[in-house]
Amino acid sequence: MAKRRIVIAGNWKMNFTPSEAEAFINEIKPMVKGKRKCDIVFCAPYVTIAAAQKAAKGTRIKIGAENVHYEEKGAFTGEVSAKMLTEIGVEYVIIGHSERRQYFGETDHTVNLRVKAALAAGMKVILCLGEVKEQRLSGITKEVVSMQTKLDLEGVSAEEMSRVIIAYEPVWAIGTGLTATPEQADETCGQIREALAEIYGKQIANATTIQYGGSMNEKNAAELLAKPNVDGGLIGGASLVAAKFNAIVDAAQI
Ligand code: 13P
Repeated sequence: MAKRRIVIAGNWKMNFTPSEAEAFINEIKPMVKGKRKCDIVFCAPYVTIAAAQKAAKGTRIKIGAENVHYEEKGAFTGEVSAKMLTEIGVEYVIIGHSERRQYFGETDHTVNLRVKAALAAGMKVILCLGEVKEQRLSGITKEVVSMQTKLDLEGVSAEEMSRVIIAYEPVWAIGTGLTATPEQADETCGQIREALAEIYGKQIANATTIQYGGSMNEKNAAELLAKPNVDGGLIGGASLVAAKFNAIVDAAQI
């Protein structure tokens, strides 16, 4: 089986002003130094990116964005293009987070357009998908995540898949303190990998990093990360506290 890159990423959501981000990065920098078994990314609000990048300069910490628009430019008030992000050195971008889907009307179609635009601009995408509570309870999680995988990646080439990370985020586990069990996370990440294999073949499916996200914290990270199909984490709340995030990075040094 291909050895997959473990990626521990923070999703700061609508938290941290530029000065707060700078203080956070300065605090976590020495903590994660030399911990090379995983890549470390923090996805920041647009206005906070530059300050975080400046503080992270010279380290392995990467600063990403939380969304990107699919058009190159034009009359799209409030949106930011991939070219704007790459020009300031942003490599990673989260696309399709459930909060974007729930509160801002994003669909698999707009998510797919954003994924393709980001990849065309040379970016690395963290594509979020996952089922809502009712879907899990009615036993259709596999169908839901397989469908999302197919729709969100429609038109993405096999070659581009080397720049795609998938974050499996069960919506019922986000910000709720409820975490998928390690078995549930492993099973569903495996189902996403099966869907990838159907589209791209086993080799690419086995090489794709699939993170788990949803109330991952310093207490449950080791168990989740020990599962064979879980290749890292996308962390919300615990990415705002240096000691907690550092403990998750430690759990990934296996
Ligand atoms: P929490 O870790 O706060 O549950 O958030 C997870 C998430 O949405 C990461 O993108």
